[in-house]
Amino acid sequence: MFGRKNLVRAYVWVLPWSLSQASATVLSRDVVIVGGGASGAHAAVWLRDHGKTIALIEKQNTLGGHTAVYKDPLTGHPLNIGVQAWMEYLNTTSFPTRMGVSTNGSMAFAPVTTKYVDFRTGSPVPNYIPPAAADNTAALKKYLELCEKYADLLIPGFFNFPSPSMIPEDLTISFGEFVAKYNLSAAVPKLYDATVMGVGDFMSVPTMYVMQASGVPMARGLLGLGRAIVPASGNLHELYERVADLLGPDVLYSSTVSSSTRKDDGVTVTVHSVNGSETQIAAKRLLIAIEPTMTNMAPLDMDSNEEQIFGTMKYTTVYAGLIKHPSLEKGTAYVNTVPAAAPSNYSVYPSIAQVGKIGQQVGANGLFVFTAVGTDGDTPESMKRVIEKTIDSMVANGTIPDTNGTTNFPIFADHGMMHSRVSAEELKSGFIQRQLALQGKRNTWYTGAVFSTGYSTVLWAYNEVLLPKLIEGL
Ligand SMILES: Cc1cc2nc3c(=O)[nH]c(=O)nc-3n(C[C@H](O)[C@H](O)[C@H](O)COP(=O)(O)OP(=O)(O)OC[C@H]3O[C@@H](n4cnc5c(N)ncnc54)[C@H](O)[C@@H]3O)c2cc1C
Ligand SMILES: *[C@@H]1O[C@H](CO)[C@@H](O)[C@H](O)[C@H]1NC(C)=O
Ligand SMILES: *[C@@H]1O[C@H](CO)[C@@H](O)[C@H](O)[C@H]1NC(C)=O
Ligand SMILES: *[C@@H]1O[C@H](CO)[C@@H](O)[C@H](O)[C@H]1NC(C)=O
Ligand SMILES: *[C@@H]1O[C@H](CO)[C@@H](O)[C@H](O)[C@H]1NC(C)=O
Ligand SMILES: *[C@@H]1O[C@H](CO)[C@@H](O)[C@H](O)[C@H]1NC(C)=O
Ligand SMILES: *[C@@H]1O[C@H](CO)[C@@H](O)[C@H](O)[C@H]1NC(C)=O
Ligand SMILES: *[C@@H]1O[C@H](CO)[C@@H](O)[C@H](O)[C@H]1NC(C)=O
Repeated sequence: MFGRKNLVRAYVWVLPWSLSQASATVLSRDVVIVGGGASGAHAAVWLRDHGKTIALIEKQNTLGGHTAVYKDPLTGHPLNIGVQAWMEYLNTTSFPTRMGVSTNGSMAFAPVTTKYVDFRTGSPVPNYIPPAAADNTAALKKYLELCEKYADLLIPGFFNFPSPSMIPEDLTISFGEFVAKYNLSAAVPKLYDATVMGVGDFMSVPTMYVMQASGVPMARGLLGLGRAIVPASGNLHELYERVADLLGPDVLYSSTVSSSTRKDDGVTVTVHSVNGSETQIAAKRLLIAIEPTMTNMAPLDMDSNEEQIFGTMKYTTVYAGLIKHPSLEKGTAYVNTVPAAAPSNYSVYPSIAQVGKIGQQVGANGLFVFTAVGTDGDTPESMKRVIEKTIDSMVANGTIPDTNGTTNFPIFADHGMMHSRVSAEELKSGFIQRQLALQGKRNTWYTGAVFSTGYSTVLWAYNEVLLPKLIEGL
């Protein structure tokens, strides 16, 4: 996208360490950022606005991470497949405003008939009754109060997280116990539908991770107390197109780190691009803005402490996209429901790997949105088979008409590992303190959902706290 000459132009400085590839392009920057999603793209702009030089390494050929947009070929309308809206939190709109992106659009909702179906068998669960609206609202309000009670400990980051003996029990008990303790079950189906589904076995994980996935900003949004913000264009990716224009050749697209040397006096990373080019970047600081999974961290010369911490985190995998299949009925959403949930047990949910929801129809083209959640061993291919099997069994069982059709995926977004968590025992043994202590070690800093929470707006607020520390002494 950007010419090689732009990079060669960068100053070659005298490196205190030897270059492994004399032929590689060499860059020198204050900060090198790995990952150009919500957190990395914001950090790049913030750092430039604070007079720092940056290079941003992005695996895809575009910025924006989980922001996936499909342009409906019939209407040209953008359909947001990943991030749907910026959930109001603190100074939510400061980043879009900085980038000249409007925040006065609105989310479109089409009326929909929901069918509750056991996706394992394809049979309807006809006697399932969702919570009454008043019960849902009352339970959500109670949940919001509890999230607000603990918000300072969790968002925008764990800066105030208590020492092991002081962690409130509510944060470490399983979400199932928490729901029973506070009689919150009527809130769970809506939370599940909004994001909590992605956590996988969410009834068993420590409650703080469910609050991470769906805490104050989402509970407020669901209650109509907080805005769900979209640009006037309706296209959530517009923001990242503006960032790309601003950053220009400072972004290395289709590129990943192949090795690094992180020391107390600076960092070098070797970057490989899919076009075969290699770039050496010498920087004073490294900002990691990707999920720090063991696979992602492998090229980054981890020490044994880092290996121990990142190796303890467990993830699910999340997939979203569009399905086209002639048997899916217009105006209908299909929700995966276990028979044990009928008529009104809101504590039982499908286990992963599963498609949580197929529906509702979007665009003019007979396209249905889906969200699917896998284990850390699932792949796009295994999840496509799960979805195909789900639709085939609904057809076989007469739940949807037989049209002899096949399942197509006009867009299938692999969101990869998400929703990191560790056990209650790890939390009580000081895991969060060990995780936080990584900040700044060997000039390496971390942003992104694992250190903050999975909402764009919260991540931007987190960066506003983290980055002033990162640039100290620069
Ligand atoms: C289906 C779905 C819907 C969502 N809806 C919303 C929503 O409505 N509102 C909201 O606020 N949030 C939403 N989120 C969550 C939110 O988008 C994410 O939590 C947030 O984007 C996380 O930002 P991040 O910067 O940590 O990571 P990401 O956005 O994942 O960014 C990481 C970036 O790094 C790149 N990358 C990954 N690995 C490497 C590597 N090894 N080297 C170089 N680059 C790499 C990726 O390509 C990506 O661009 C949604 C998420 C999903 C999956
Ligand atoms: C290869 O990709 C890198 C990183 O995006 C880019 O800077 C460089 O210009 C590309 N080289 C060619 C020859 O296209
Ligand atoms: C956003 O809020 C943070 C925290 O309250 C504050 O430090 C920062 O200056 C604000 N940024 C803008 C652009 O208003
Ligand atoms: C939204 O804001 C843009 C400019 O940012 C403006 O052009 C447009 O008229 C506004 N739309 C509405 C509905 O207010
Ligand atoms: C629990 O909540 C339900 C509504 O969801 C309500 O009907 C019930 O009375 C509540 N039980 C207690 C003990 O508060
Ligand atoms: C809900 O279902 C689960 C699993 O089948 C069961 O353990 C639990 O007792 C049920 N709860 C109610 C209120 O029936
Ligand atoms: C239809 O659903 C029933 C359970 O209700 C299941 O036993 C059966 O296998 C399903 N049939 C097909 C053809 O999928
Ligand atoms: C599906 O195909 C079979 C065999 O080709 C045919 O008998 C049947 O009528 C077709 N059904 C529909 C709904 O088109």
